Amino acid sequence: VGATADPFALASTELKLLADSIRQDLIGTDHPVLNQAASYFFDSAVTDGGKKVRPMMVLLLSRALAESASYENNSNSISNSRNPDNSLLSDPLHWQRPDLPAAQRRLAEISEMIHTASLFHDDVIDGSDTRRGAPAVHMVFGNKMAILAGDYLLARASICLARLRHVEVVETMSTIIEHLVRGEVMQLRGTVAANNNNNNNNSNERLLYYLRKNFYKTGSLMANSCKSAALLGDYSPAHVQAAYRFGKHVGMAFQLVDDVLDFEGSLSQLGKPALADLRAGLATAPVLLAAEECPALEPLMDRKFKEDGDVDRAVELVAATSGMERTKEMARVHAEIAMDAILEQLHPSEHRDALVHLANKVVARTK
Ligand code: FPP
Ligand code: MG
Repeated sequence: VGATADPFALASTELKLLADSIRQDLIGTDHPVLNQAASYFFDSAVTDGGKKVRPMMVLLLSRALAESASYENNSNSISNSRNPDNSLLSDPLHWQRPDLPAAQRRLAEISEMIHTASLFHDDVIDGSDTRRGAPAVHMVFGNKMAILAGDYLLARASICLARLRHVEVVETMSTIIEHLVRGEVMQLRGTVAANNNNNNNNSNERLLYYLRKNFYKTGSLMANSCKSAALLGDYSPAHVQAAYRFGKHVGMAFQLVDDVLDFEGSLSQLGKPALADLRAGLATAPVLLAAEECPALEPLMDRKFKEDGDVDRAVELVAATSGMERTKEMARVHAEIAMDAILEQLHPSEHRDALVHLANKVVARTK
């Protein structure tokens, strides 16, 4: 893999245009407050717009798939260079829809709109005051408007999705919304009840429940957005599957790292308060894995860290185990599965390599 393929540099021009384009998508309402609230995170005066990992994955993957296909079509050399505006999206091949670049760019926007809608709702549910280093949308516009702005974003995303005129992509992207809701409900309901006396089984069940929840909350959006990028380009089932696996495992790694950062990070670094999970009563991978070595964590998890000193005690106990290190190791394994998925299916190209680096950066990130 080429060492210099930097996903952020390669995607930066395209991603800068993304927020503007989404703001244009949202102008359908004649209600100025609804419009302002929905556009809140797409306003450069408010935030830097976040990491934009999801659209970055869609755009880089779209280009990597195109480069791989053109490699096959042109006797093993990359020749998809008719790309005058230096955009991440290449000209379609003869068997692809002529508007493929525009459709994939739309898809990148749709994935960011769905993600942002879920954050509007999530910050209301979690009562979180800050997001991306700025006040959360409900702190500025109130809970009711935050919920409605999230709904409005979803509605506009649905219209954009329908306009792609690809039924399987509509189905795939709609599944994400179902999964986000399912993941959030799983998190609200908490872990599986301790239904037997076997500690090993119990901790294993808790971990499986947590990982399934992570897939619904984070993995599905990345997996199905990447899959949709491949579907739009009419790529082979093996490529569609590779795209899905790449997105899924980057997503799983991303969430594991998020849960590590909740322990290690600080408000100034993350743009949101640290230890939020423990304070919300949630046991994430560092605690779940620590509990395998340190059963004293079990009663704390059962009472959702609600008694005085529980949060501090949990932090101490986790630090005395290999919980954090094992969580990071798990994230690395997922990132490697993601890399393998595309390295096995796609021919070498700068954008394929940028995706490999992106999977690495997800694991190494500090915010
Ligand atoms: C962030 O999790 C939240 C999500 C990834 C998904 C939230 C989903 C919903 C609220 C369901 C409704 C969905 C839609 C599409 C409107 P977190 O609280 O663990 O992370 P955080 O620390 O960044 O808040
Ligand atoms: Mg939250």
